[in-house]
Order: sequence, then structure tokens, then C-alpha cells
Amino acid sequence: MRIIQSNSKEEAVLKIAEMIVGKIESRPSLVIGLATGRTMEPLYKAWLEIVRKGGIDQGQCRFFMLDEYLGIPSDHPSSFRTYIKEKFLKPSGLAEKQFFFPSVENSDTKAAAMAYEKSIQDVGGIDLQILGIGTNGHIGFNEPASEPNSRTRQVVLSAETIKANRSSFEGEMPTEALTMGIGTILEARELLLLATGSSKAQAIKALLNHDDDPACPATYLKRHRNFTVVLDPQAASEIKQ
Ligand code: GLP
Repeated sequence: MRIIQSNSKEEAVLKIAEMIVGKIESRPSLVIGLATGRTMEPLYKAWLEIVRKGGIDQGQCRFFMLDEYLGIPSDHPSSFRTYIKEKFLKPSGLAEKQFFFPSVENSDTKAAAMAYEKSIQDVGGIDLQILGIGTNGHIGFNEPASEPNSRTRQVVLSAETIKANRSSFEGEMPTEALTMGIGTILEARELLLLATGSSKAQAIKALLNHDDDPACPATYLKRHRNFTVVLDPQAASEIKQ
């Protein structure tokens, strides 16, 4: 695991955006796994700004969603599909066919999960997986006690995650989701995790201090040989220098 500590949130976001775009420049057909959440909002802005300024062509890239809520239509204003469409797909001007979303409206979630795994395999796997982290150390929606070899599947959200994400919903908040598994994520060729803000300090502390800890699923990512964590000072505030 490589840790990059930045002097500000803006610097952390810019650093990770530059890393992503640099990888697209050296491999235009990059397959990228996309995360959502508040942390990622400035990243998508910075990423597209660099692409615009540099005239970089992303037309050959393909993008896979990390997770999605279950029990709401995929075009719900608070779905992750809507998030990616509004914050990345539309402003990027890329084609919808470059984006892959799990089919959460399929009542057979097992079949939807398997089909999603197959669509990842069909493009040769994910080159670069972008990740955030939950306050409880979850990755995607792999909550504490998730298995390190887990695959894309239906999961029940923890009380902590429901509390953290409730403000994104006007009405009732979903309690279940479909998420790539930890095993699925570990198969990506490279992992890039961005954590900003003091609410992530405890999860980052647990990530650094523990190995293979079921209470902090992010610790399983340390098994990966190409795993980089980019932090702002607040997210890094519990790390002993
Ligand atoms: C969300 C998503 C994750 C995200 C994490 C942190 O619920 N499932 O992919 O990384 O929780 O979200 P935020 O950046 O809003 O704190």
C-alpha cells in the first residue's frame, strides 16, 4: 500500500485526478471502476477539467459502477446511476454505451450480479478501480463482516451507512444494495482510494493499523500489490507520524 498525504482536500483531489488522467493518456482504452459519494464530487469536476484543458480523448474508456441501491428505480434522483450521469457522464460528453451499470431493476438480483461480473470479464477486467471509504471502513457497500473473496451480490446496509447516507434521500432511504464484492475489487489491476475529511479519520486509522480485519473491510485491500491511498490532512489526522 502506498499512502500519499496532501496539504489540503483540493490538493488531494487534484493529485488523484491527475493520476487518473495520466493513466488514460498512457492507455486510452482504460477500463475504470467508478465510485460515488460526496468525496467523489470534486474529483469528477477536477478530472473533467484536466481532460478539457488537455484535450484528452476518453472515447475508448469504459466505466463500471461500483455499487447501486436496491429498491428504488435506477433513474431515482438519489440513485448512483443518476449521480454518475449528472456529475460525470453528461458533463464529459461521453457516450452512454461506455458506461456499465448493474441491472438493479431485475427482480432476480443473483442473476443481475452474475451478469454484471460477466460484463466486467467480457471487457478483460477493470484496469483502475476508484474507491472511497465509509466511516465504518466499508468499500463499495461491502460492510463489516464481508468476506474478502466476496463477489458482486445483494447486501444489507449497516445502520451506520444508512445514517451517513440518509441526507441524500428526501423520502425513505433504501436498506439494501448491489455491490461489487471485495474479491471482485481485488481483481482490478490497480486500486486508488480517496479519503477526505475528519469523518474518515478513524476508518483510515483502522486501515493502516490492521490487516485482514473483518470489522474494517478496507483492510483486505492491503492484499493488493498496486493499492494507493490519497488523503487530506483531516482524513490523515489519526495516523501516527
Ligand atoms: C457510499 C458508497 C461508497 C463510498 C462511501 C463513502 O455509500 N457506497 O462507494 O465510497 O459510501 O461515501 P462519501 O464519500 O459520501 O463519504
